[in-house]
Amino acid sequence: MTDQIDFATEYALAPESTDHIEIKDRYSLFINGEFVKPERGKYFKTSNPAKEEKLSEVAEADSVDVDNAVNAARKAYENTWSKMPPKERGKYIFRIARMLQERSREFAIIESLDGGKPIRESRDVDIPLAAAHFFYYAGWADKLEYAFPGRKAKPLGVAGQIIPWNFPLLMAAWKIAPALACGNTVILKPAETTPLTAMKLAELIQEADLPPGVVNIVTGAGKTGSEIVSHPDINKVAFTGSTVVGKMIQKALAGSSKKYTLELGGKAAHIIFDDAAINQAVEGIINGIFFNQGHVCCAGSRLYIQEGIAEEVISKLKTRMDALIVGDPLDKNTDIGAINSKMQLDKIKDLIQSGEDEGGNIYQSECALPKNGYFYKPTLISNVSQSHRVVQEEIFGPVLAIQTFRTIDEVIEKANNTPYGLSGGVWTDKGAKIFKITQQIRAGIMWANTFNKFDPASPFGGYKESGMGREGGLHGLYPYVELI
Ligand code: NAI
Ligand code: MG
Repeated sequence: MTDQIDFATEYALAPESTDHIEIKDRYSLFINGEFVKPERGKYFKTSNPAKEEKLSEVAEADSVDVDNAVNAARKAYENTWSKMPPKERGKYIFRIARMLQERSREFAIIESLDGGKPIRESRDVDIPLAAAHFFYYAGWADKLEYAFPGRKAKPLGVAGQIIPWNFPLLMAAWKIAPALACGNTVILKPAETTPLTAMKLAELIQEADLPPGVVNIVTGAGKTGSEIVSHPDINKVAFTGSTVVGKMIQKALAGSSKKYTLELGGKAAHIIFDDAAINQAVEGIINGIFFNQGHVCCAGSRLYIQEGIAEEVISKLKTRMDALIVGDPLDKNTDIGAINSKMQLDKIKDLIQSGEDEGGNIYQSECALPKNGYFYKPTLISNVSQSHRVVQEEIFGPVLAIQTFRTIDEVIEKANNTPYGLSGGVWTDKGAKIFKITQQIRAGIMWANTFNKFDPASPFGGYKESGMGREGGLHGLYPYVELI
């Protein structure tokens, strides 16, 4: 095999082995510390988007199952978790973090199989960051009096948490870790296309001997999610996903006493000034839009290049894009894996078509795509303006819309001309420009001369239609406590 490879121009295949991982044929619901069959006995499949092959089946929870999970969480809250000395709670969370670290390889492979992301990312980003969130919030559990000096932080009770498919385990960690640290119990619902690492986490939590009912994990689609949101005995809803569903949840919660945080979509402006370090900026742009196939709420999907350097930046971007390897998510060389689902692939194609219809110029890298599975070439769209759909709507794929600008005020106006306000990036040599941009752009997170940097100590969240509330850091404790 190896003698057929031209090492000067090609990489040797480096697939990660799946021999040592275990995926069961079927997963039931994790309620009260045990795996229980769903009341109506319904299951649905989850598949590998890179191969279009079934991986396993998970339960479809209905209202009775959700009710059982809420009751288990309530009992665990009243009898155990809220009464436990905070230091002891911290030890449990720390144990989850340690066990995740020990099994990171298994989690990384399953994450890539179920969701399509490159193993390099699940191995180096998703799983280590998930563990880091548990470590970080384990540290806060017995220090809440320092987080909120002079005030007493009381837990809220039972939290219902609904997460998307783009960072399955990481989103589970973002939700569960701060909730537990503050003394709440939880019901988590993973997304329907990526439930497997959440079910593995359920197994890990069982082994970690967490008191039954403190964490309950129920699978299902939107209907199951809405059962959680509307359950009368939930005290807090934490949601990450589309803006459309976020708005539905907000309406459903209006007038109730339930607290909520919403982490929704984004359409980040990524701004390159003519005094920037161009080669580094090009790397930042590539990382900003092609990381995780562009399935990233904070992706730098609107590029603004200062006019004088536009030609150079676009030419370098094309060269860099042509070198990206699109293919098998389990291959360690792969830069861009599979699109998460057929539905998402269709959505990307539909938006690209609209970009073309509206007069945009499309450039795609020349890479070959695998025959099976859902894949999409890295794509640039230029000759577009603010009113184009590809500039206004979240594409959630490896697609970058490019515009130019002349002055700083012009680019600030363009960057803010969006219903979203989650993140943004700026590349320049001048600190003064960075301060002006970061102060005037309405976005929860701004990166300067870098992009997509995450840390559990740093708060994350949006303005406008990107949602409300912050996750991560000290700020991430607020949504899970009542301060008295
Ligand atoms: P979605 O918002 O429908 O799904 C996210 C989660 O919410 C899933 O667990 C889903 O089961 C649940 N859900 C769906 N309907 C619900 C309801 N009525 N009540 C409670 N929970 C509900 O996102 P979807 O359909 O998977 O993706 C559609 C588009 O949304 C994507 O193309 C992308 O543009 C955007 N999206 C954005 C994300 C972000 O982080 N910004 C994450 C996921 C999707
Ligand atoms: Mg799947």
